[in-house]
Amino acid sequence: MASITLEHLGKSYTPEVTVIRDLTFDIKDGEFMVFVGPSGCGKSTVLRMIAGLETITSGTLKIGDRVVNDMHPKDRDIAMVFQSYALYPHMTVYDNIAFGLQIRKIAEPEIKKRVQEAADTLGLNAYLDRKPKALSGGQRQRVALGRAIVRNPSVFLFDEPLSNLDAELRVHMRAELSKLQRKLKTTTVYVTHDQVEAMTMGHRIAVLRPCGSDPKVSNLTQVGTPMEIYDTPANLFTAGFMGTPKMNLLKAKVADDGRDVLFYGVRIPVSAQFKDAALKHRGRDVVLGIRPEHIGAAHEVDWQSDCSISGTVEILEPLGHEVIVHFQLQGETLAGRLRSHVALPAMGDPITLLVQTEAMHLFDPVSEQRLA
Ligand SMILES: Nc1ncnc2c1ncn2[C@@H]1O[C@H](COP(=O)(O)OP(=O)(O)O)[C@@H](O)[C@H]1O
Ligand SMILES: [Mg+2]
Repeated sequence: MASITLEHLGKSYTPEVTVIRDLTFDIKDGEFMVFVGPSGCGKSTVLRMIAGLETITSGTLKIGDRVVNDMHPKDRDIAMVFQSYALYPHMTVYDNIAFGLQIRKIAEPEIKKRVQEAADTLGLNAYLDRKPKALSGGQRQRVALGRAIVRNPSVFLFDEPLSNLDAELRVHMRAELSKLQRKLKTTTVYVTHDQVEAMTMGHRIAVLRPCGSDPKVSNLTQVGTPMEIYDTPANLFTAGFMGTPKMNLLKAKVADDGRDVLFYGVRIPVSAQFKDAALKHRGRDVVLGIRPEHIGAAHEVDWQSDCSISGTVEILEPLGHEVIVHFQLQGETLAGRLRSHVALPAMGDPITLLVQTEAMHLFDPVSEQRLA
């Protein structure tokens, strides 16, 4: 069993600065877990702690039932793939893939079989005699993957492995990697700052942020399936980080009767899931969250609403299949979504859009936590 358990894991590179604080969650056997968060929040540090390339300052790390805090990297049965591929330039593709097995003194026929299988899986058969410099970026990335999979490890660790590829290849490799993981069923931890990769690849996502200097704040903001994270973000950080374009996060107030949320004179009825929370917060400040796809033109949306919002068009972003409209309301900029490219409003035009009220989110402005 190659589950991974993090219990109050902490890391300080220097006594003064804590980079990782109080990380507690588990990764199940066979699971594809994505760590997502902004650059510098500590994703690689956690991955390197799991790999054994970085010491653990506090807490416990288990792989299966074994505490591995002090176990040597080579005894952890883990294969890691980096953004930089780290191939040996003077070796052929075959030898690059085989090298890890050769140093482990595996018999040559067995090595040949495993390299062949990996090359079949990754479509590298025609390139086994080439050196890395005669390969494209995508092919080099596949060689790095091949080197990891021939080892048949209990755990794969990936650190932004697609970041050096161009956009098209990244989309392709994203799907290939997911397929490969589903086939091999090897427990996988995948680090990325790209929330689209997180949403599309992971069985579950752990959303991380910098932990700062407050000893009560952990790097972990939420862990859950992609749809849990998207549909019910647990706090303002997750709400703002996951989703493109970003969720509108608006300073608002719960009406004195607790039935509406007031936002610059617009009354937005509280949806059923927030009834109790809104009653409890009557008259209080809240942050109202609405994703752009839940604000749209009356004749284009496929939902019903009698709540509309009016502003002045600031900028249009045509994306091909839709147009994101940014509009101003009393100094706040909101984003909504238009479906049609004909009869688009112009900059400075007034615009009135419907709000899908049951898709709203409410957060406490002080604790930054979701209200219900
Ligand atoms: N070897 C190191 N010594 C000191 N600080 C480091 C070291 N490695 C990383 N850091 C710091 O730890 C923080 C987290 O880094 P890292 O784990 O690389 O973040 P991420 O992978 O999320 O971009 C950063 O502030 C970085 O500067
Ligand atoms: Mg990193």
